[in-house]
Amino acid sequence: MDELITAAREIQDRAHVPYSEYRVGAALETASGEVFVGCNLENANFSNSLHAEEVAIAEAVKNGHRDFSRLAVSSDRRDGVTPCGMCRQTLSEFCDGDLVVLCDEGDNEVTEYTLEELLPNTITQETLE
Ligand code: THU
Ligand code: ZN
Repeated sequence: MDELITAAREIQDRAHVPYSEYRVGAALETASGEVFVGCNLENANFSNSLHAEEVAIAEAVKNGHRDFSRLAVSSDRRDGVTPCGMCRQTLSEFCDGDLVVLCDEGDNEVTEYTLEELLPNTITQETLE
């Protein structure tokens, strides 16, 4: 299995999911090969919950990274979960459309998308220039 998927699986152990009991892990790979991981962190008010992808990208950006090649996303149900609409937009702020998004289908099965496929024609910094 791709080690990026493995990283997205392993970080699910740290998820805080008392409400949904749905563990998500994300692993973001930089152009230089470093990997930053995140998991979902839910909140009793529900709307403050952080998604795994948001946590991973925050971790990478705050450590000085702005150049990303791949993202792996995995849930404990191994259901091929993809980043939600909000996370797609957050990713598009820091990643190009050719970012490869790997979604964990379980066993050795992975569905691969590009960010452009998941979120075409969205607003970006360029739109506001
Ligand atoms: N979740 C993520 O972490 N990433 C996504 O993009 C999809 C949804 C989390 C949020 C919530 O804790 C749980 O999955 C159920 O929606
Ligand atoms: Zn999301």
